[in-house]
Amino acid sequence: MTHPDNLAVIILAAGKGTRMKSTQPKVLHGFAGRPMLGHMLAALQPLKPSRTVVITGFGADAVEAYCNAHFPGCEFVRQTEQKGTGHAVQVCEPLLGAHQGPIIILYGDVMLNLRPDVLATLAQHHTKNAQGLTLLAATVADPTGLGRMFEDHGRVRIVEEKDCDEAQRQVKTANPGIYAVHGPALWPLLRELKTDNAQAELYLTDIVALAPDHGTPVAMCKVPAERAEMGVNSRAELAAMDALWQARKRKELMDGGVTLIGPETCFFSHDTAIGPDSVVGPFVVCGVGVTVAGGTTLNAFTHLEGTQVGTGAIIGPYSRTRPGTVLGENVHLGNFVEVKNSTLGQGTKANHLSYIGDADVGAQVNLGAGTITANYNSKTKVKSRTTIGNHASTGSQTVLVAPVTLAEGTMTGAGTIIRKNTEAYSLVTDAKEQLVKPGYAKTK
Ligand code: UD1
Ligand code: MG
Repeated sequence: MTHPDNLAVIILAAGKGTRMKSTQPKVLHGFAGRPMLGHMLAALQPLKPSRTVVITGFGADAVEAYCNAHFPGCEFVRQTEQKGTGHAVQVCEPLLGAHQGPIIILYGDVMLNLRPDVLATLAQHHTKNAQGLTLLAATVADPTGLGRMFEDHGRVRIVEEKDCDEAQRQVKTANPGIYAVHGPALWPLLRELKTDNAQAELYLTDIVALAPDHGTPVAMCKVPAERAEMGVNSRAELAAMDALWQARKRKELMDGGVTLIGPETCFFSHDTAIGPDSVVGPFVVCGVGVTVAGGTTLNAFTHLEGTQVGTGAIIGPYSRTRPGTVLGENVHLGNFVEVKNSTLGQGTKANHLSYIGDADVGAQVNLGAGTITANYNSKTKVKSRTTIGNHASTGSQTVLVAPVTLAEGTMTGAGTIIRKNTEAYSLVTDAKEQLVKPGYAKTK
């Protein structure tokens, strides 16, 4: 994407999001493993803004901490009292009042800009109206709750639904809350805002009708939009946005050569990557940080998180992997196997009922049913690791008490508890003489 020179971005993120009924600020609610604000900041990166100003207010510390951790370089302005979207932008003047380039203003709860074409289209449109105010305008089937956009006596106006008359309410062109404006032209418009509206707020939208009197030309850039992208104000709207995002992600994966069986039952994260010729069964969930090589199979009800999977691996049904898991080529994990913060080498198998945590497991290892690595001493988590050499093979119900090393090629018998390091290619068992009393059971 070509990016505008000297671009500043303002994101409105000070509101409480009353309709979310949450103690958390709205923009930190999210989907696909990332807050709405994170999706927005990521979508802005291709535009390479020279400054990104986030307006914070409700839950400011949390919002600012999130930005600093994930998108360093953001600047913040605090809007201590939320007096409306126009007021929010007014409080940016001390920071951006002298900015000479374009400014893109976005509402932190609108997800329309996640489509890469939308911001590029707006930026391109604005180059033809560089001294003016360029508005994104969205045509939606159901604009309920949104500000309506229309021409009135040759002027563009945005009227909030609460201020609309019946005829205005019929208008399907709605305000997505994404504007591009020539920096110096913005501040005089904001100074003229008034609170004479149904919500007694300073509406940013009113700058549109004021612009022509200040010699600032207004241009509309029309795009089609889904209702869900137009603003997340409630939990139901958040779920609708998630559903839309997931549908797009599934399509993207399938277009990239991945077979999804029952695609609508599979859920992915913003950074999920799956290579071609992989097959994903029903009810598979990929949390954050999952990278799957091509030619793998993720069987039904598998839940992955923070995991790399090598080519040819067969995972699940009912496998669970947690952050820090690296599975080599042709690894097999089966039913009710949990792996955490562990590496499994090429061709290693754990097919039934196991917990493998904080372990370095070599190649071609066979972990028998119920093999467990034990490193929790019931009070504090002992970070000790378990090491299992290549070609080792554990009997059912082997417990490896960390820190411990099962040397290359070691075999363990069923039910063995390994507390000491073993010798390569040894057999280790806890076998005791079996007690046999013939006929005893009949006496009971
Ligand atoms: C707003 C628009 C509406 C548009 C819709 C798109 C106005 C007056 N209305 O309505 O035309 O169709 O978005 O979704 O602009 N915020 C602040 N400070 C404030 C008030 C709001 O930072 O004082 C932030 C909120 O955190 C939010 C964004 O601005 O991220 C939008 O505010 P919201 O209350 O959701 O506006 P809507 O009623 O959705
Ligand atoms: Mg909103």
